[in-house]
Amino acid sequence: MIAFDEPTGTWVLSTPASSYALRRGEDGPRHVYWGPRLPPERIARLPVRARARDEIIGDELPGEGGERFGLAALRLAFADGTRAVDWVHSGHEIDGGHLVIRLSDRHHPVRLELHYRVHEDTDVLERWAVLRHTGTDEPVAVERFDAAAWTLPPRPDYRRSHVTGEWSAEFQLHRAPVAHGETTIVTRQGTARHQSNPWLMVDTGEATEEHGEVWSVALAWSGTWRITTRRTPGDDLVITAGAGHDGTVRRLDPGTEIRTPPCLGLYSRGGFGETSRRWHSFVRQHILPRPDEPRPVLYNSWEGTWFDVNEATVRELATAAASLGVELFVLDDGWFAGRTTDAAGLGDWWPDPDRFPHGLGPLIAEVHRLGMRFGLWVEPEMVNPDSDLYRAHPDWVLHMPHRPRTEIRNQLVLNFARPDVVTWAHTWLDRLLRDNAVDFLKWDMNRPFTEAGWPAGPDPQRLWFAHTEGVYTILDRLRADHPRLRMETCASGGGRVDLGILRRTDQAWTSDNTDPVDRIAIQHGFSQLYPALIMGSWASQSPNPLNNRPTPLRFRMHVAMAGVLGISGDLRTWSTVDIAEAATLIAQYKQIRPIVQHGHLYRLTPTDHDVTAVQYVTDDRAESVVLIWRRFSRPSRATRPLRLAGLDPAATYTTPDGSHHGGDVLLHHGIDPDLPPGDHASTLVRLRRSGS
Ligand code: DGJ
Repeated sequence: MIAFDEPTGTWVLSTPASSYALRRGEDGPRHVYWGPRLPPERIARLPVRARARDEIIGDELPGEGGERFGLAALRLAFADGTRAVDWVHSGHEIDGGHLVIRLSDRHHPVRLELHYRVHEDTDVLERWAVLRHTGTDEPVAVERFDAAAWTLPPRPDYRRSHVTGEWSAEFQLHRAPVAHGETTIVTRQGTARHQSNPWLMVDTGEATEEHGEVWSVALAWSGTWRITTRRTPGDDLVITAGAGHDGTVRRLDPGTEIRTPPCLGLYSRGGFGETSRRWHSFVRQHILPRPDEPRPVLYNSWEGTWFDVNEATVRELATAAASLGVELFVLDDGWFAGRTTDAAGLGDWWPDPDRFPHGLGPLIAEVHRLGMRFGLWVEPEMVNPDSDLYRAHPDWVLHMPHRPRTEIRNQLVLNFARPDVVTWAHTWLDRLLRDNAVDFLKWDMNRPFTEAGWPAGPDPQRLWFAHTEGVYTILDRLRADHPRLRMETCASGGGRVDLGILRRTDQAWTSDNTDPVDRIAIQHGFSQLYPALIMGSWASQSPNPLNNRPTPLRFRMHVAMAGVLGISGDLRTWSTVDIAEAATLIAQYKQIRPIVQHGHLYRLTPTDHDVTAVQYVTDDRAESVVLIWRRFSRPSRATRPLRLAGLDPAATYTTPDGSHHGGDVLLHHGIDPDLPPGDHASTLVRLRRSGS
């Protein structure tokens, strides 16, 4: 709901449990309030905190000019050398939950629209901005154009939470005080990548998993991005977030406009746990294309075969996977022309004639006959120099004249800002899907941008944005034209997981690290914003191919069952005992899948405890699943009861063995984890409300 109080010029945006307010000002709207829901008429009477001691603060999208010494979320350079903006309010519109505020520069021909959207079923509010050149003469240089700046109330002990990491160690949760001055998390690599992820949470220094105020912002964008916190000496805090990084200056030509991707914001009083659950609900309700569909149990060939695939091997693996109860068989890298190592083949997207002499058709038919769907790995944005495509089109890659073309994993990046490259990629993908009954694509992206140039391009820096838009265009068209198609986002593991790509994919590959011990922390960080419904997790080989750690199959499976369960590894070498156990656990996963994938997540412990656990509870609190993992066993430490969450205290819950537990006892005292002795022990507890 959006209300406008005419006498004070205050817009109040109300969500079920929060309010956000801003007020019309002489030179653009100023922030008034973001916190627990209050009656709009009371918020309208609140004063604007428009100045800190020595400067103007609280702009909804600060530019340069006047006593503004903070970071400009909108940084323009006009042809006459002017950098300051001078806005005048030129109107607003409210259409249901959508507010647009229009500003015009008093002298230069630019107009700015600030957009806000609220929904009735979520506290997440959406913001974006549009900048238009209304003149006919010189272009304007757009040096920074964030989607939103978020002003928080002054508090003495602000703390920030975000994820950092690297390949195979993505989503490591990091929590530290907000420094005075400016702190930026940024990627300059072309996609979100592994080093960070485009979201940030801020609390008052005392929030826990269960309690405390948390403000969080997230970008729905898959290209490079920046999120900056600015804490003034007086402890005012502004978070500004948007697409692009330093140096990605775009030209705004007369008659054209630039629209930012959305930046989403959420205020919650229930600590980090409730913050995550609200984001999870939002992702399900407003981001994912098909949120209600259960995600299938998949098998992926990568850790079973690496590049060594051929029709006979794949048939054997498919037979074994089907016997486990797998529902989706994914043929990973190595199926296309010349792809026997990572040194060749990318760009030549037809089945390798030596290894798949009959094409993919008979194989797909066999996978379908076995009762599974068929998925295929692709990496459309990439080319190996050793490929027919590159030999024909060396100018299609990102490059700069007189500079080396840096190869990473022996590959170069195709310039998806070029319409001809986008048409080429869409054409072969569309044909692949028309000619073959492919049900699922895993879209990978295995290297960052380097020498990101487009010598003949109209506006070279624009490629940083247009490349991502090109990817989105193809994904959107494929989904529209092939309604049965489901997709997985992947970039060397979890290098492209964000709310922008998730609008057009169904799940994400979380990390190339399938070691269950490492995976617990990766999944913990992933779950801060993203729901289990999209978190691809494989139980793979032991010892793990990456770090050589041996772990029992049950532990590997129980960790993977916390998300979208998958299997990888060479099933031909698995013992009959392991095959039988995997089949039993897959069958069990299918029973608990609705609770895990569509329930509410409670992280019961920090990840540095010896015993860690997550719990999922259905909306009506009738069913719950607890996954408990002990990474390392220490003889001196007795196992403590594990307090559960989210249950109905007045109800009685029953476990499959028939024992009864009061909801209040489970919440306040807990359950005995009852883990077998030793390292890498795990268990799954299922609870059903008696009478449900
Ligand atoms: C990186 C992905 O994360 C892996 O799962 C696998 O698909 C390889 N690429 C294949 O090259």
